[in-house]
Amino acid sequence: MKPQWGVVVLVLVFSQIILVYKYVSLGDWFRRRTTNVTTEIADGNSYNTKQIPPNATIKQLNLDDRASRVKEMCRQLEKESYPDLHKSTGRMLRHSKRDMMYCVTPKAGCTSWIRIMRFLNGDIKQGVHNPLEVDRMYVHYGPLQNTKVYDLHNETLRKEVSSKGYKFMFARNPYSRLYSAYIDKIFLPDYWRSAARPIVKKRPNVTESHQQCPDDISFAEFTKFVVDSITKKSYVNEHWAPVTWICNPCEIPFDYVGTQETFSSDTKYLLEHFGIGDILPSQTFSDRINEEIETLITYNFDLVNQLPKGCVKENDLARRLWKTFQINGYIPENVQHSFNSPEAISKKEFHELVLNTIKENFPSKEEWKKRRNKALREAFGELSAELLINLRKVYDIDIQLYGYDPLPKELIWHIAT
Ligand SMILES: *[C@@H]1O[C@H](CO)[C@@H](O)[C@H](O)[C@H]1NC(C)=O
Ligand SMILES: *[C@@H]1O[C@H](CO)[C@@H](O)[C@H](O)[C@H]1NC(C)=O
Ligand SMILES: *[C@@H]1O[C@H](CO)[C@@H](O)[C@H](O)[C@H]1NC(C)=O
Ligand SMILES: *[C@@H]1O[C@H](CO)[C@@H](O)[C@H](O)[C@H]1NC(C)=O
Repeated sequence: MKPQWGVVVLVLVFSQIILVYKYVSLGDWFRRRTTNVTTEIADGNSYNTKQIPPNATIKQLNLDDRASRVKEMCRQLEKESYPDLHKSTGRMLRHSKRDMMYCVTPKAGCTSWIRIMRFLNGDIKQGVHNPLEVDRMYVHYGPLQNTKVYDLHNETLRKEVSSKGYKFMFARNPYSRLYSAYIDKIFLPDYWRSAARPIVKKRPNVTESHQQCPDDISFAEFTKFVVDSITKKSYVNEHWAPVTWICNPCEIPFDYVGTQETFSSDTKYLLEHFGIGDILPSQTFSDRINEEIETLITYNFDLVNQLPKGCVKENDLARRLWKTFQINGYIPENVQHSFNSPEAISKKEFHELVLNTIKENFPSKEEWKKRRNKALREAFGELSAELLINLRKVYDIDIQLYGYDPLPKELIWHIAT
């Protein structure tokens, strides 16, 4: 058998990194990064955790090695009795023929991967020829007959999972994940019937009708709510619970850890690993944008009649979707539309308007990224220093395990001096 030199080298590299950073305490780090944030806030972190440098490692590591980084970090944090290393609230899907085990992490490409798992197991509607044809609603709500689901709350099942198959999961930068959850669920009306209600309920003078139609939650208010609920360890919605709480790679030995930021190459790697590299038809950038737009428009227009009467009107929804497409980088910021006509815009009219607008200004990938980053930067610019520091604390576990930048300078530009 060939000696595993890759692993030996990796372990050596890790021990060097850890040695170098052992002496850089988080408090010092915060002071350097956010010089004008008060010392109490900067020192407020209660864990004396050693830092693997922000973002440096993850991109440099080969794809295969991210799981090793996670294992090494788990070992380090375990030694320091880091809280919450053994929480697992998510679920895993199995495809037994190829011995695949996928842990579902919402807002990190889970629609794509549930599609693939469903397709492989035949949990699809008739006439579907490839995973991309599985309807998005069906992906999440269609019946599962051939896919075994392991609920990771259950210790027995967790143990069973640990000894089975090739296990993989996906992580995502917690800051962009949070903002994406806000836009999809809170700014757009998806969660106005559910998770948005407890947020407005915290306001001192909230009325019953406002709770039934929580249409004005800002990103700052949402973020504060998320920070409070994760801190209190009360029930946390899986779209913003730390990824580590969902899949718990410190307890379940994952073979592969992908990230949203490297989603295409990770997915390609995994599919090739399972010998099904050709399962996904190729999709252009424009195909992907069109699919995303159609899904968002259809889904959200269908919500209008499910919410209390008059809660969200078509024109208001159109305004919100338009803004969402700007935030997502599809429509340029300077192309405005007021949707002020006294008549309600229809789903079809709106869809055509959006497609035509995008066609006229089709973004390059660079332009698209630039727009998204600008929106993210502006959104985080609304958050106070204290809130950002607390946010960083509640996602510390994800930041450490997957090697994200703790406080990216693009997101703290307004408080760092
Ligand atoms: C830090 O913030 C305080 C209060 O906002 C301000 O008075 C002070 O000038 C700032 N210091 C620096 C170095 O920017
Ligand atoms: C990593 O961080 C450094 C310094 O903060 C930055 O210059 C660099 O662009 C970052 N790299 C990536 C891939 O994000
Ligand atoms: C955990 O899963 C096992 C196996 O499916 C089942 O027998 C048991 O009842 C479950 N435990 C709980 C607490 O649901
Ligand atoms: C609720 O109270 C806040 C702050 O006291 C105030 O700004 C807001 O207008 C009030 N809202 C309503 C609906 O009364």
